[in-house]
Amino acid sequence: MSAAPPAMRPTVAVTRRLPDPVEARLRAFADVRQDPDDRPLDADALADALATADVVLCTVTDRIDAAVFADAAQRGLRARLLANFGVGVNHIDRDAARAHGVVVTNTPGVLTDDTADVAIALMLMAARRLGEGEREVRAGRWTGWRPTHLLGTTLTGKSLGIVGFGRIGQAVARRAHHGFGMRVRYLNPSSRDVEAAAVGATRCDTLPELLAASDVVSLHCPATPATRHLIDAAALAHARPGAILVNTARGDVVDETALADALRDGRLAAAGLDVHEHEPRVAPALLALENVVLLPHLGSATVETRRAMGDRALDNVEAFLAGREPPDRVA
Ligand code: DGY
Repeated sequence: MSAAPPAMRPTVAVTRRLPDPVEARLRAFADVRQDPDDRPLDADALADALATADVVLCTVTDRIDAAVFADAAQRGLRARLLANFGVGVNHIDRDAARAHGVVVTNTPGVLTDDTADVAIALMLMAARRLGEGEREVRAGRWTGWRPTHLLGTTLTGKSLGIVGFGRIGQAVARRAHHGFGMRVRYLNPSSRDVEAAAVGATRCDTLPELLAASDVVSLHCPATPATRHLIDAAALAHARPGAILVNTARGDVVDETALADALRDGRLAAAGLDVHEHEPRVAPALLALENVVLLPHLGSATVETRRAMGDRALDNVEAFLAGREPPDRVA
C-alpha cells in the first residue's frame, strides 16, 4: 500500500519581519515568503504577493488600495486572505477586498492596554514637558534645579475628552479616572454606557462641546473618510486655551498644519503624537516645535503585545485555511 501524499503546505507572504516565536509558528505549517531585510513592500511587490501567495500577512506599512487589488487581479489573484498584523485596517481598501473575494482579518483586543499606556505616557510627557527636559539634559544645557524651571501643567483632577470610546478609549478613561482623578467625557457614535459608568465618564454629543470642556483631548477613533482631519483649524478653535492634544490613533485624524499653528500661537499648550499622517515622515513644522512630543508609532510595541498580535493573526490564518470562519474578520 503506498503512503498518502503529503498535504500541500500553503504559501504565506509576510510583508515585515515578525517576532521570532510567531515566525517559528508560521513556518511550522506554511511556506513563508518574506524579505529578510524587513524593507516595506511597494505597490508592485504587494500586487505580486497577492498574485502568488495563498495568504498575505500584512501590516500598517502596506498600502493595499483598489489599484493594488486591480493589479493583482490582472496578474491572476491567488490570495484569498489578507491577515493584518494590527487592529487598524485603514491602509486596506476593504470594499476592493470584498469585490475581489479577499477576506480581511485584524488583531483586536490584544494591544488595548499597551496603547492606552502610551496615550497616558504622552499626556504626562506633554503636560510635564518631559521631552524638553530630556533634550536639555542630553544637550548638556541643564544648569541645575530652580523654582521656575520648565514648569508644566498638573494632570491630576483635570478634564479629559476622549474621541472614540472603543476598547482603547475606555482603557485610557479607566487609567485617567482611577489613576489621576480626571473627569472624563467621551464622544462616540455608538453608546457604551456600561463601560462609561465604570470610569465615571459622561457622554458629549458634539466635538465642539467635547473640545470646549476638555483640558486634555485624546484621540482613539479609527481613520475613516469621516474622521480625516477631524481635528482641523475649525475644530481647534473650540479647544480650551492651553489644552493638550494626544494622538495614538492614526495621523490623518489630525490636520498637522493646523495643529502646528495652534501649538505655535499658544492656543494649545502642548501635544503628544505617536502617529503621523505620512509615516515615517514627520511634519517639519512639528519637528521645529519644542511643545510637541513625537514618538515613532510605538503604541503596541512591547514584546508581549507584538507576540500576541502575531498569534492572533496566525489564529485567523489557521482558521481560514481549515475552512472555518476566521475569528477577527473585518471584510
Ligand atoms: C494597530 O494595531 O493598528 C497599531 O497602530 C499598529 O499598526
